[in-house]
Amino acid sequence: MTATLSEPDLERHFEGTIARDARIEPRDWVPEGYRKTMIRQIAQHAHSEIIGMQPEGNWITRAPSLRRKAILLAKVQDEAGHGLYLYSAAETLGADRAELTEKLVTGRQKYSSIFNYPTLNFADVGVIGWLVDGAAICNQVPLCRSSYGPYARAMIRICKEESFHQRQGYELLMTMMKGTEQQRRMVQDATDRWWWPSLMMFGPPDADSPNTAQSMAWKIKRHTNDELRQRFVDMTVPQAEALGVTLPDPELRWNPERGHYDFGEIDWTEFKRVLSGAGPCNAERVAHRRAAHENGAWVREAAAAHAAKSRRGREKAA
Ligand SMILES: [Fe+2]
Ligand SMILES: [Fe+2]
Repeated sequence: MTATLSEPDLERHFEGTIARDARIEPRDWVPEGYRKTMIRQIAQHAHSEIIGMQPEGNWITRAPSLRRKAILLAKVQDEAGHGLYLYSAAETLGADRAELTEKLVTGRQKYSSIFNYPTLNFADVGVIGWLVDGAAICNQVPLCRSSYGPYARAMIRICKEESFHQRQGYELLMTMMKGTEQQRRMVQDATDRWWWPSLMMFGPPDADSPNTAQSMAWKIKRHTNDELRQRFVDMTVPQAEALGVTLPDPELRWNPERGHYDFGEIDWTEFKRVLSGAGPCNAERVAHRRAAHENGAWVREAAAAHAAKSRRGREKAA
C-alpha cells in the first residue's frame, strides 16, 4: 500500500495517526525527524538503564543482610531488563544495537547525568530508589502514552517495576530511620547529596529546552520539563516529612496561591558540567561499561555461531 501513496499522503496519514491519539507502529511511514528523535530518546533511555546498574551494583556484595541483597539484586537485574526492552524498541526504528552501544562507550551518546554521582553509604541505595526511581516514574508514566507504540508498551511494564524500586527504597529508608542515630545521619547525608541531582533529571528549564515544542506536537513528550519537576517536588515533600528527613533547600515552601511547593534555584552550571563529562564518576562509568562490553565479546561470538549452526541444521532438515 505504501508504494502507491505519495509523500504528502504518507505525511497526512502520519499526522492523522498522531491527531487521533493512535500509535505509530514499526512499519508505518514516519518523517525522518521523528525517527531520529525517537531513536535518540529511546537509546539515551536504554543507556541510562544500563549505566544505572553501576552505582547500586556497587553495594550488592556489601548489602547488610540476605534480604537486602536479594532485593537489590532483583532491582539491578530489572534495570538490565529495561535496557534490553528499550534497545529492542530502538531496533524497530531501524537502529543497530551494536552501533548504539558503540556510541555509548565512545561518549557520542548520552545517558542520564544522575548516574555520574557516587554511592557513598548504604542509605544511598534507599535514596536512589526513593528519589531517582521516583523521578524516573514521574518522567515515564506519561511516556506510556507516547505516540510510538513499541516504546509506549515497553514503558507500561517498566513503570510497574519502577514503582517496586521506589517502594523498596522508601521502605529501606523507613527502616534506617527507626534505627540508630548514625543510621538516621546516613539517610540525611544521602538525601542531601541526591536531592538536587534528582531535580536535574527532568532536564533544563523549559526556556532552555528548544526541542520540547516539536516533541510535544509529535506526542513523544506529554508534559514539559518544568511541569514534571514541579509534580515530583509536590509528591516528594510530604514523603520527606513522613520519613523525618529535611530536604536541603531553605526556599522550599508551600505556596497556597499556586497550589504547589516553591523551591530554590537549581545549579544549572553543575548540570552542564556533569552532562559534558566532568562529573564525579563519568569516566569510571563509561570505562566500566566499555570493559564489560569487551569482556562479553566471546559470548556474542559464541551465540552468533550457535545461531548459525542451528539455522544450517534447520535448512538441512528442510
Ligand atoms: Fe529502570
Ligand atoms: Fe528503577
